[in-house]
Amino acid sequence: MSTKNISISWSEFKEISDLEKDDRDLVIAARDISVKAYAPYSGFLVGAAVRLDDGTIVTGTNVENAAFPSGICAERNALSTAVSNFPSRVPVAIAIAARNSEGLTADPVSPCGNCRQVIAEEEFRNGKPIRIILTGRNKFQVIENGGSLLPLQFNRNSLKSNCL
Ligand code: THU
Repeated sequence: MSTKNISISWSEFKEISDLEKDDRDLVIAARDISVKAYAPYSGFLVGAAVRLDDGTIVTGTNVENAAFPSGICAERNALSTAVSNFPSRVPVAIAIAARNSEGLTADPVSPCGNCRQVIAEEEFRNGKPIRIILTGRNKFQVIENGGSLLPLQFNRNSLKSNCL
């Protein structure tokens, strides 16, 4: 028997002005698009902004549905839009911002499990890390790659090893 350990690290900032310019622009794009979210059921408006390797920024929001599971999160919406509209480009960063009835959330909002899986797929197939920028009103967390948020992940290698 052996015990293994996985730890993750991230950088934390208090002011948006402390972020590097590319990250700052992405946060502003995520905050701006969040007001366009369609979230009548939760009242939780989420915006995500994806930066592609040529600098293009693609945004998305959560879009809810009366049949709750049919709704989609902002991160997956933005990433799917990026992948389908720019198939030859590689996502290199994603910023996430959310608003509740009081405005921008005080604490950073972290992607749900489904979104982590979708982020991991993009990283894996491109072999490039996606920088994750989680944002609150006055707290910013930067994680260098999405894989850190999904340790022991299921990916295409899992399919191979289980099927052959
Ligand atoms: N949501 C996102 O869009 N992204 C997240 O990271 C967390 C949750 C959405 C899903 C749902 O529309 C609402 O926020 C409440 O969970």
